[in-house]
Amino acid sequence: MAILKIARMGHPILIRKAEAVGEPGAAEIRHLVADMIETMLDAGGVGLAAPQVHVPLRLFVFRIPPERAGAAGDDGAMPITVVINPEIAFLGEERILRWEGCLSIPGLRAAVPRYARIRYAGVDCDERPVGAVASGFHAGVVQHEYDHLDGILYPMRMQDLSKFGFTEELARAGAMEGAG
Ligand code: NI
Repeated sequence: MAILKIARMGHPILIRKAEAVGEPGAAEIRHLVADMIETMLDAGGVGLAAPQVHVPLRLFVFRIPPERAGAAGDDGAMPITVVINPEIAFLGEERILRWEGCLSIPGLRAAVPRYARIRYAGVDCDERPVGAVASGFHAGVVQHEYDHLDGILYPMRMQDLSKFGFTEELARAGAMEGAG
């Protein structure tokens, strides 16, 4: 396994649409997934999409650590999950602002509008179905990672750029209190 180099905002691969994975069980996909998991954990992230490691394919990994789960209305903790060739549907109109960061935009955080409830579905490397009806942090992470597959970075979703800043400054100002 290896820690992969993460593309940062400005790299063209982050703003192009990724291609479907032809064979989720292929050795090179399993290898990529293992390296992406190692890279995500090494960087302390909760999600990583293939385009972020310079691979223009439709797959991402994510996790919900126990300390980020359990807020009112949120789903519980989740182990590391791989989602290949996902589809996503938004359930209802309700959107909420969620504080997000991105391993491709280091040092910054922003409050980004996301649908409160979604349904998503894909497969894992054994072509078993993966997916859920998700809410709260779980729903936010999946929307963020799914966006990477369509070449969308979170600043492109923002409506209020006053809620965008350096993590250190926002924390000092107490701006992220109540963040999920
Ligand atoms: Ni990201």
